[in-house]
Amino acid sequence: MSDRDQEKAAKRAQWEEINRAKAAAKQKEQNAPEKAESRSGAAHKQFQAIRGTRDLLPPDTALWNRVEQTAHEIFGTYGFGEIRPPIFEQTELFARSIGLETDVVSKEMFSFVDQGVPGMVRLMYMITEWPDPTSDAEQFSAYLRCVSDFIVGLEKGMEREELPRSPANRQALEDLRRHLDALTQTSLKHDQSKRLALDCVQAICLAARLVELGDYLTLRPEATASVCRAYIEHNMQQLPQPVKLYYMGAMFRRERPQKGRHRQFYQIGAEILGGPDAPAIDAELIEMLMTFFDKCGLQGTELSINSIGHAADNCRRGYVAKLREELLKVKDKLGADSQRRIETNPLRVLDSKLEQEQPIIVTLPRIADHLCDDCKAHYAAVKHDLDLRGVAYHENWRLVRGLDYYMRTTFEITARGLGSQNAVCGGGRYDGLVELLGGPPTKGIGFAIGEDRLILSLQEGGQALAAQGRDVFIAWMGQNAYATAIRAAKTLRNAGFRVELPATELKFGKALERASKLGSRFALILGDNEIQGGEWTLKNLANAEQQKLTEQALLEYLLKL
Ligand code: HAM
Repeated sequence: MSDRDQEKAAKRAQWEEINRAKAAAKQKEQNAPEKAESRSGAAHKQFQAIRGTRDLLPPDTALWNRVEQTAHEIFGTYGFGEIRPPIFEQTELFARSIGLETDVVSKEMFSFVDQGVPGMVRLMYMITEWPDPTSDAEQFSAYLRCVSDFIVGLEKGMEREELPRSPANRQALEDLRRHLDALTQTSLKHDQSKRLALDCVQAICLAARLVELGDYLTLRPEATASVCRAYIEHNMQQLPQPVKLYYMGAMFRRERPQKGRHRQFYQIGAEILGGPDAPAIDAELIEMLMTFFDKCGLQGTELSINSIGHAADNCRRGYVAKLREELLKVKDKLGADSQRRIETNPLRVLDSKLEQEQPIIVTLPRIADHLCDDCKAHYAAVKHDLDLRGVAYHENWRLVRGLDYYMRTTFEITARGLGSQNAVCGGGRYDGLVELLGGPPTKGIGFAIGEDRLILSLQEGGQALAAQGRDVFIAWMGQNAYATAIRAAKTLRNAGFRVELPATELKFGKALERASKLGSRFALILGDNEIQGGEWTLKNLANAEQQKLTEQALLEYLLKL
């Protein structure tokens, strides 16, 4: 066989081998579910975290903890105290504060009805979604039973105060009874009577939909509204003003998940409520924020600021009217979202990232030219105060923010390594929000940091913490040594060392192997010799050096390192 032939044959053999391996892997895959099924009698479902949510795991969680600890420390030095509001609130709280037309409220909230009486929501859906209750006698009587059960549930629920005794529910109850009576008296025999029955069904559907079946609740999409609610609920206006509060925790928005954007995400935020609206308050809050980012080691931060004035004809309202006028002139050139926003919220058009809209947006009127004198002076003073504090910023006239409650100062911070979702923090002034929620006239300003994005940016900047290993792995051998090992673990942990005490006895070689896999610095070897001699063996796993030490000497040695 020539060299070439040999080469060809070798290649063929190689391919055959690869194909055999592929076929075997495929066969294995096909057999796997059968095997699993035959073992357990049923296939086991594998669960996964819900889309847009994720597990935060070690070693990343160490970085999360460090960031949160830094927030506690820095915010504390500026006189802030921590508030922990609940994770869900009445839907109306968010709808009213954030605004019905905002993306957050109109599309992104996780809302649910907290059923006062279990089963009532199901009955309501059955009544309102029944395909055609008049299709035959069987369907008809089943439908009558369903409506009657719903009415009884509503009556009892209201009686026991498990369902709201609201005017809406009283009216719905009366309507449902009346329409059910009428429906019972119809027959399906003639077309005319069937039409009457269908009219009654329609009226029943309408009344059933209007029943208030419980509280409408929402997983918080942000925490500013909750903090304002708490300020009012706990009469915090009686405390020395302003009240400075910070929070951290999970928020929920039903957004399309992507890098830096999750459905369950975490914010670290701070709010200042009450007191004056002195520009120094805005500036100090921003200074605190930048100090925090600095202490975290966040790189490439850029602070943008703007003022969106206040809601008056000679200020923002006048500007918005002018902006709408200009936008209407170029409506055809805008995308669908911006076209809709001309009516609902023209300011948000300035936020648009659509490439085709950019040349148009730069020609639009700017809010800075339409601020009233007071807002203009406030904005100038905020900038002056930031200069005094050495906080670098740049002005961005397009920074309007996506929530309705803002007025005057708005700001955003971007950081490196985040791709398109590069806003790591957003905030602004919201005088009037507390009043809108039923409290006294109160000034307010705050921010929220997207913690997921902050962590991502820190990691991209090489700040990941090394996997946390152990200081001491206790390799114990024999039951005699086990009791001593327990005592040693307790003593070392009390002294602050990270200790791994294996739950079962391991052979010496296996124990050392496990110790190094866990990244342990030392192995403490405890066998019969150590127990009898009263001296323990400490092995340095980096250089394999061993020494014998009494219990006391060992502790002292480790503490000195
Ligand atoms: P926001 O701009 O909606 O403001 O959110 C603040 C920050 O939260 C954003 O800059 C971003 O870093 C992060 N964030 C928002 N949505 C997501 C998401 N789906 N996934 C990951 N991170 C996200 C507020 O929430 C206001 N409450 C801030 C505030 C406080 N204004 C005054 N006080």
